[in-house]
Amino acid sequence: MQTTITNSVKIAADFIKSGEVAAFPTETVYGIGANAYDEKAVRKIFKAKGRPADNPLIVHITRKKDISVLAKEITPSAKKIIKEFFPGPVTVILKKNEIVPGVVTAGLDTIAIRMPASKIARELIKLSGVPIAAPSANLSGSPSPTNFIHVLRDMRNKIPCVLIGPAAKFGLESTVIDCTGKYPVILRPGSVTLEQIKRLDKNAVYQKRTGKVKSPGQKYKHYAPKARVKIVKRETSNVKRETSNVKRETSNVKREMSNVKRETSNVKRVKEAYIGLTRKFARDFEVAKICKTIEEYAKNLFSFFRECDELGIKTIYCEKVPEKGIGAAIMNRLGKARGKK
Ligand code: TXA
Ligand code: MG
Repeated sequence: MQTTITNSVKIAADFIKSGEVAAFPTETVYGIGANAYDEKAVRKIFKAKGRPADNPLIVHITRKKDISVLAKEITPSAKKIIKEFFPGPVTVILKKNEIVPGVVTAGLDTIAIRMPASKIARELIKLSGVPIAAPSANLSGSPSPTNFIHVLRDMRNKIPCVLIGPAAKFGLESTVIDCTGKYPVILRPGSVTLEQIKRLDKNAVYQKRTGKVKSPGQKYKHYAPKARVKIVKRETSNVKRETSNVKRETSNVKREMSNVKRETSNVKRVKEAYIGLTRKFARDFEVAKICKTIEEYAKNLFSFFRECDELGIKTIYCEKVPEKGIGAAIMNRLGKARGKK
């Protein structure tokens, strides 16, 4: 299949209107969209991604009034979240209306609804004239794409259209919040944090780790690079300990300028990479990304995974961060990437 790569929102909307799929940018990650009311079109998304049919999609809108078309009831807990965070990197789960085909929601009686803030995404939904069902635009299991190059790598010749736009502002997928009950339950952490949701409703919680998985997507190994992902604590000792049983190839030793102060050895850890907030860890590695803030860590994580794969990196050491604020979303993605359920 030939892929039309375009920056024309109109061209992408024409694909969606004609029952085809198109990838498009949002402020969280890129998505692959289809008309949410067109069962056949939605099936094409699952096929292109190799996505299990039991993993439901998020339906994207631009007008708040569409929520009551898609959902049976807008609960009080949803109302507060929608008022505060729509449009933005948040998805609410509500009881679905019959108008939404079962393929979108994987047979569940609930629906995930998101109103993106991205101008291009909003324009696309508007010109398409329908709500757009869209998962992230990666092959199932891979890290979500945060720029159009990632999308092309996974989806070229698998889908007919890629709408190109800016790199994602947040770089992690939306916060998914179950609003069907009395209080909000976060099923997938994201850039909008539990702390922020608690300001609207003090009873808001994360979904318990045990018991029934409410968000089917959360049960799969996910977001994973080809390289092995290891989570390391900030204390230097932990990284050092890991180093001792790692083969070092002296041939690749890079000698740095004598005026560069070095705290550790001058042997680089070949085929190993580091991402995190601590500069002194980074200098041991062949490839490293030092992030100045936790937001930058979140924004760069998936694209770093992809870069490491291109470079043939075997192990990526990711710095552990406290599970609060966006740190919770980072640790959630790292856990999945490592293969922990
Ligand atoms: O930021 C995002 O959310 C991006 C952009 C493109 O909007 N989309 C995205 O979609 O990440 P996807 O399909 O990769 O993740 C959707 C998540 C999955 O974990 C899925 O199981 C969950 O939302 N989900 C969808 N519908 C649900 C429902 N009715 N009940 C519970 N979880 C649901
Ligand atoms: Mg996804």
